[in-house]
Amino acid sequence: MYPGQHISLKPYNTFGIEAFARYFICFKSREEVQEIFDDIKELRVAERLVLGGGSNILLCGDFNGYVLKNEIGGIEAIHEDANSVMLKVGAGVPWHQLVLYAVDRDWGGIENLSLIPGSTGAAPMQNIGAYGTELKDVFHSLEAYHIGEKRIVTFDKKDCKFGYRESVFKHELKNQCVLLSVTLCLKKNPEFNIAYGAIQQELEKMKVESLSVKNISDAVIRIRSSKLPDPAKIGNAGSFFKNPSVNAGQFHDLKKQYPDLVGYENTDGSYKLAAGWLIEACGWKGYRNGDAGCYPLQALVLVNYGNASGKELLSLSEEIKASVIHKFSVMLEREVNVI
Ligand code: EPU
Repeated sequence: MYPGQHISLKPYNTFGIEAFARYFICFKSREEVQEIFDDIKELRVAERLVLGGGSNILLCGDFNGYVLKNEIGGIEAIHEDANSVMLKVGAGVPWHQLVLYAVDRDWGGIENLSLIPGSTGAAPMQNIGAYGTELKDVFHSLEAYHIGEKRIVTFDKKDCKFGYRESVFKHELKNQCVLLSVTLCLKKNPEFNIAYGAIQQELEKMKVESLSVKNISDAVIRIRSSKLPDPAKIGNAGSFFKNPSVNAGQFHDLKKQYPDLVGYENTDGSYKLAAGWLIEACGWKGYRNGDAGCYPLQALVLVNYGNASGKELLSLSEEIKASVIHKFSVMLEREVNVI
């Protein structure tokens, strides 16, 4: 298996940033992953970047190592009964393709996660979430090639240590595993999650009379399309920062000073603040410097209008972060991985 050399990564990251990989290899099966690591001895110690849909990375320069593009396909029902179906999905399958597959069959559980860019393998890495649902709610297990142990390991939900946009693969096991497949448990008679206000409003606009997997997915697609930029048209990686949590004391102090502040109580009594609100309140919404900008319809999304570099976007994000600390004493943490 021979890697390509000096390959442009522009088509492989949703920010649409130009950067080159010293070496680039695609793999389409678990056997190929093992073969690549057996054949290219230096790969175990070299700098590596495993890419799925490239929807959560900011490339700040050329990559002087091996980029491994995950193209493992396949969606297979491995268990089915009257109430549920267990789907084993290749890590390279685009996430939204999987959602449409489930929606077509009226299998519920991931309709709220419609239209999220990226691959199925990337979904557990950061426990993707939207409109009140997170991947962990439907997750059963995953298989990964453990580079150090040279073998395929199965992880159940507990092993993945899921948190808000977090998993073990962003921490202890960072760069240690190549995800091969993800197994999800979907429901044939799902309980729908429409607690999120925007979904209810959209369903009303659509004049939906009875809920279904399909019409919830359609509502989510309509909401997302109305306020999030399509990466095929404007480069972006979704929310650039996570929504930060503050303690109850700080929340109430801020709320006194800024009555429209948006925040929700967490189960542990702390409050999660809407980072988009904080960024907008600092005046960044719609800001543009060259081709790097803050999206006019959702301030949490940074955008590349054409030829912004990763460094320009990173520096814009640092300015935003500094102004949010200055105004609110709240520290934003990146959701996007800077490479
Ligand atoms: N808001 C503003 N100004 C803005 C943006 C948001 O005031 O420019 C306020 C809104 O008015 C709303 C609140 O912030 O009251 C929340 O906004 P929104 O519903 O758009 O969601 P979010 O918290 O900004 C999160 C996820 C999104 C996910 C949506 C919907 C994170 C970091 N982001 O965004 O996920 O789609 O909720 O559930 O948790 C992603 O992770 O890439 C992503 C897009």
